[in-house]
Amino acid sequence: MIPEKKVRNQWTSQLTFILAVTGSAIGLGNIWKFPYVAGEHGGGVFILIYILAVLLILPVMTGEIMLGRRGRRSPVNSLARLAVDFNRSPKWKLLGWLAIAGGFLILSYYSVIAGWTMAYLFRAGAGIFNNATVEGVRSIYESLVGDPEKMLAWHTLFMMVTAGIVAYGIKGGIERMVSYCMPMLFVLLLLLLLYVVVDGAFMESLRFMFVFDFSKVSIETCLVALGQAFFSLSLGLGAVMVYGSYLPAHVRIVRTASIVAAVDTLVAIVAGLVVFALVFEYGMQPAQGPGLVFKTLPLIFGRMPAGEFFGAAFFLLLMLAAWTSGISLIEPSVAWMCEAFNCSRGFAAWVVGFIAWVLGIGTIFSFSDTAQWSIYSVSLFNVLDYATANVMLPLGGVLIAVFAGWKLPAVVLREELNIVHPGFYRLWRLMLRYLSPGIILLILVYQVWDSL
Ligand code: TRP
Repeated sequence: MIPEKKVRNQWTSQLTFILAVTGSAIGLGNIWKFPYVAGEHGGGVFILIYILAVLLILPVMTGEIMLGRRGRRSPVNSLARLAVDFNRSPKWKLLGWLAIAGGFLILSYYSVIAGWTMAYLFRAGAGIFNNATVEGVRSIYESLVGDPEKMLAWHTLFMMVTAGIVAYGIKGGIERMVSYCMPMLFVLLLLLLLYVVVDGAFMESLRFMFVFDFSKVSIETCLVALGQAFFSLSLGLGAVMVYGSYLPAHVRIVRTASIVAAVDTLVAIVAGLVVFALVFEYGMQPAQGPGLVFKTLPLIFGRMPAGEFFGAAFFLLLMLAAWTSGISLIEPSVAWMCEAFNCSRGFAAWVVGFIAWVLGIGTIFSFSDTAQWSIYSVSLFNVLDYATANVMLPLGGVLIAVFAGWKLPAVVLREELNIVHPGFYRLWRLMLRYLSPGIILLILVYQVWDSL
């Protein structure tokens, strides 16, 4: 067994833990993906189903934090240790590997898209979108997405910042970063919300997001909502687990997880309201797919008064959100490498960052038309996105729920969850053991079967 480290790094307070996990949760998933996915799936009903999905996986989130805190190591070694401690199969370690591999794959493409947000921040701030036409905005987009060198430059910058922050450790790096970035992120979002309430088509946006047209519900809507909820809460791939491993023993897990889930959902909804209020004000279409933020919004920023300012604010928001998520994607592997090779954190961060950076080049080439990298003619980016969000995350989630709910002794579960009310504890345990993994598994199997 791995020797117990003397005093492991811990978060300074419950608040910094909440900020870090919220920072991980709020990312491109909330601001870039959520609005367009909700737009494509009819708005209101999607949001309702999404909220149900979040409630369904909340026990999994508590399970993941708990496993981290109990194991006190990187996901691989936490699971190895728990398996030994509680006499379970050593194969559970593989779940840790699934987590690390998934986080790595996501990081590789996440960094590329995050790079776009930085590129757009400069373009918006410089007023390049001013009075641009539809073709103009499209050509700006294509000149970025079709140019591997430009994308590579931004991808490199993003990865360097991510590795650089994690190199400074939990307190000096991650904690310090989120305590600056998260308040800034909230202020920017409020600023944009204020703008659309005063000046945008806010009511129309509200109606779009909260009118429930049940004819649009299909099994596919549920699938997408579940995958999105997993991705948005950073669940199933060890990010939350590794953050949990730095959590002081007295912090209440259920409460903190609920706060994070609530804030994350709220931010996604507010981001959606902002985006759609702008879209409707300028008579555009909500179901624009991934191009919504990178093609439709710049057009709007180019037409509205003080568009440079609001455009820059929007892409800055997106960039901060991506940074605080990127560090949580790299941390599980860095923590593992420090343990496995007994090397310094700085060294581990740069090595892991470098490997993810190389992998990201595949995503870059899957975007440019000249050399589209693809597997069976599906672009590499889409393959990675599908495999991680729709398969690896839910699979990791089910396994985490099974381990936490079935393999940990009941006393340990009770102690870790620390729920005072007995009825509530029973309900939580029931969800963690049956409801959450059961439904997730059903959806997962349906999905894999359906796509074959
Ligand atoms: N939650 C982030 C977002 O919404 C992405 C993310 C960060 C993530 N860490 C993760 C997704 C770990 C899955 C697993 O953009």
